[in-house]
Amino acid sequence: MSHILYRENIGRALPVAVAGDGPYLIDAAGKRYIDASSGAAVSCLGHSNEPVRKAIRDQVDRLAFAHTRFFTTEAAERLADDLVDGAPGELTKVWLTCGGSEAVEAALKLTRQYFVESGQPQKKFIIARRQGYHGNTFGALSASGNIWRRRPFEPMLINSMQHIAPCFAYRYKGADESAEAYGLRMANELEAKILELGPANVAAFIAETVVGATLGAVTATAGYFKRIREICDQHGVLLILDEIMCGMGRTGTRYACEQEGIAPDMLTVAKGLGAGYLPIGALLVAEKIHRAIERGSNIVMHGHTFTGHPVACAAALATQNEIRAHDLLSNVRRQGEALHAALNDRFGSHPNVGDIRGRGLFMALEFVADRRSKQPFDPALKINAKIKDAGMDNGLICYPAGGIVDGKSGDHVMLAPPFIINASHIAEIVDKLGRTVDTVLRDVLVKAA
Ligand SMILES: Cc1ncc(COP(=O)(O)O)c(C=O)c1O
Repeated sequence: MSHILYRENIGRALPVAVAGDGPYLIDAAGKRYIDASSGAAVSCLGHSNEPVRKAIRDQVDRLAFAHTRFFTTEAAERLADDLVDGAPGELTKVWLTCGGSEAVEAALKLTRQYFVESGQPQKKFIIARRQGYHGNTFGALSASGNIWRRRPFEPMLINSMQHIAPCFAYRYKGADESAEAYGLRMANELEAKILELGPANVAAFIAETVVGATLGAVTATAGYFKRIREICDQHGVLLILDEIMCGMGRTGTRYACEQEGIAPDMLTVAKGLGAGYLPIGALLVAEKIHRAIERGSNIVMHGHTFTGHPVACAAALATQNEIRAHDLLSNVRRQGEALHAALNDRFGSHPNVGDIRGRGLFMALEFVADRRSKQPFDPALKINAKIKDAGMDNGLICYPAGGIVDGKSGDHVMLAPPFIINASHIAEIVDKLGRTVDTVLRDVLVKAA
């Protein structure tokens, strides 16, 4: 009997993963699974990258740990240099963390500290978007608009977080509205919320550049983020972009916001940063924020014991070197297009696939009971959970989730394969996903008839 508290299917044994081989994971029975979601958009180099493994071994042999109150390390310094090199706008400083939620917590606290130290202590509101996700710690969960994840904790969440609508054209654009007009209308919701709360009281707006698991690879319409940036500048509100899932190359550029033509004041990354070889995240910070704190208290009022862990930094730096050495961002763009085309071929006229969307190697299919009305399936049918289980049976790891519409109904499956995939991997993923979806829907629809 396992003593692990599993995150789902409590009491039901999971397969034991024992090895990795490129984009495949292998369980104790020798079964191979193609990792079409990189876990949760993590394992961008697949599961057996030798240069990253060697960098970890070398770093442990040289220096395993030095606390950041006393020392900096070469690994942390070089990783920070690497992250700011070519980063958008004025992002010149890096705060290192052990994962995504920690990076978001740091962003929220640094926002508050920045305004306290620059003489605007009344700024306390953070505006975020409904159905966005920023992490599971209390600050990050309070910022998150993921209804399902928030629900049990609602009475304990921080009430200086406010929410506006996401930019989600497939579900919410008016039939006669252009994509641009819809994007503008959604961005202007931010201005309305700032005016309602009073610009002097609003500290920051936080959003995922491309919405990840909660809505399933949802890109904003063209112009949305440009208008968001304008509104933030006009009202003295910081813009925090959460690229924990969509960043570090996943959409075909290192930072997803490069494709939106804007730069944030803070940017969070994690997941693919270290490709899963070790846990690591980072917060990139604009020079003006750093300068205000340097001129003020000259101390960041935040920190964790393992911040800037040298072995994790070495793993992340080696990951970034591998991405560059093999020009993997070009492969993300090329294979992303091929994956999109293959998904369109296989599911484009499927009666229960309402939308195929995404950017780079960050794609999703949204399932519907009826394509014309976009009516979701009854959540009691548990379509997304069944797809996950049937996928595993078929040797496919994909990332299904539910609750797109209202936290309960609306099913989708996300695909975020490693950056190293080729045409044969795409064929395998689409074939296995096709068989998985067909089996699950056939079963569900036959039972419902
Ligand atoms: C966009 C986004 N932000 C934050 C997080 C939280 O990151 P972590 O799970 O590493 O704490 C996630 C995790 O899925 C995420 O997708």
